[in-house]
Amino acid sequence: MEALRQQLAQLRQEIDSFAVTQAADAEAFRIRFLGTKGALKSVMGEMKNVAPEQRKEAGQLLNEFKAYAESIYQQHLDRTTTASTDTGSGIDRSLPGSTQPIGSRHPVTRMKNEIVAIFQKLGFAVAEGPEIEDDWHNFGALNLPEHHPARDMQDTFYVQQNPDWVLRTHTSSVQIREMEKGTLPIRMLMPGRVFRNETISARSHCFFHQVEGLYIDEQVSFADLKQTLYFFVQEMYGKDVKVRFRPSYFPFTEPSAEMDITCFICGGDGCPVCKKSGWVEILGCGMVHPNVLRNCNIDPEKYTGFAFGMGVERPAMLKYGVNDLRLFSENDVRFLRQFPALT
Ligand code: PHE
Repeated sequence: MEALRQQLAQLRQEIDSFAVTQAADAEAFRIRFLGTKGALKSVMGEMKNVAPEQRKEAGQLLNEFKAYAESIYQQHLDRTTTASTDTGSGIDRSLPGSTQPIGSRHPVTRMKNEIVAIFQKLGFAVAEGPEIEDDWHNFGALNLPEHHPARDMQDTFYVQQNPDWVLRTHTSSVQIREMEKGTLPIRMLMPGRVFRNETISARSHCFFHQVEGLYIDEQVSFADLKQTLYFFVQEMYGKDVKVRFRPSYFPFTEPSAEMDITCFICGGDGCPVCKKSGWVEILGCGMVHPNVLRNCNIDPEKYTGFAFGMGVERPAMLKYGVNDLRLFSENDVRFLRQFPALT
C-alpha cells in the first residue's frame, strides 16, 4: 500500500512537470498517463498486490489520481487547441472566424504550368517577352521577309499607331529575343498569350496561349527533338500514347513537322474529338532554319537547334471537359469556381 502511495506521488510530480506547449504534447501526455499502456493502467495492474482489506482505500487513491490526470489533460487540451474558449480575455475563440475565399488558378494557367513543369525536368528555363512586337521579331528574323506568302498563314493584328508593330502571332518572337542575347547554349520555354484575327467561336478565338520551346547547342539533332517530345508526351498523356510525325512547313524551321498523338479520348478507335481519325495534332516543330540562326548572329556551321510550339487551350479543353473556348476569357466566376484551389 505504501509502495502504491509513493508511486502515485511520483507520477503526480511527473504530471506537474510534463511540458505541454502544443497539441502534439497534449497527446503525448495522454498516452503517457491515460493511454492503454500508460501509467494509470500499469498502477491499476498492481491492485492485485494490495491486501484485500486495503483495496477500498487503494481504489480511492487510484480514482483521485485518475481524476487529477484527466483534469490536467483537459487543461492542456484546451490550451493547445485553437477552438478553446478563452474566458480570461473576454474573447470566445471557439466562434467560427471570418473566412477569406481562396482563389484558384485559371485552367489555362494550370495547363501551362503543367506543360512547363515537364520540360523543366529536362532543364528548360522559362523566358517571356512583349505581347506587342515589332515586325522583325514576329516575322522578319523568323525567315518571313516582307511579302512572304507564309505571312498569310497567320491573320495578324497590326497596331495603328505604328505600322511596324503587331500583336505577336506566336511566341516564336521570344525565341528571337533569346537568341539575340548571344548566350549559348539555349534551352528555353516561351509560354505566353498570342493574337490572331480569327472569328470568335466555340473553337477559335482572337487570342490564345502557346508554349514554345527552343534548344540550341552544338550537334543538336532531329533525334534530340524527337526524344524530348516523346518524353513530354509520356509525362503528359501516359506511357501508352503513340506518336507520329507528319512533314509540315514553317518558314523558321527546316525540316518541319507536326506531331500527332493517339487520341487520348477514344484511345485511337475514332471519336468526335479526333474526327474519327484516331489521332490528334498537338504541336508543330522542326530544326531551326539556318537563316534564323544567322539573323541572330549565331553560326549555323557550329550550332544547330530545334524548336517546337503548342497551344494551351486545346489540351486544357480536353483535360477539363470544356466545350467552348470562350469560357476561358469571359471570367465568369461560376465557371472559374469549378477549378478548385491548387493542391
Ligand atoms: N510558331 C508556330 C505556330 O505558332 C509553332 C512552331 C514553333 C512551329 C516552333 C515550329 C517550331 O504555329
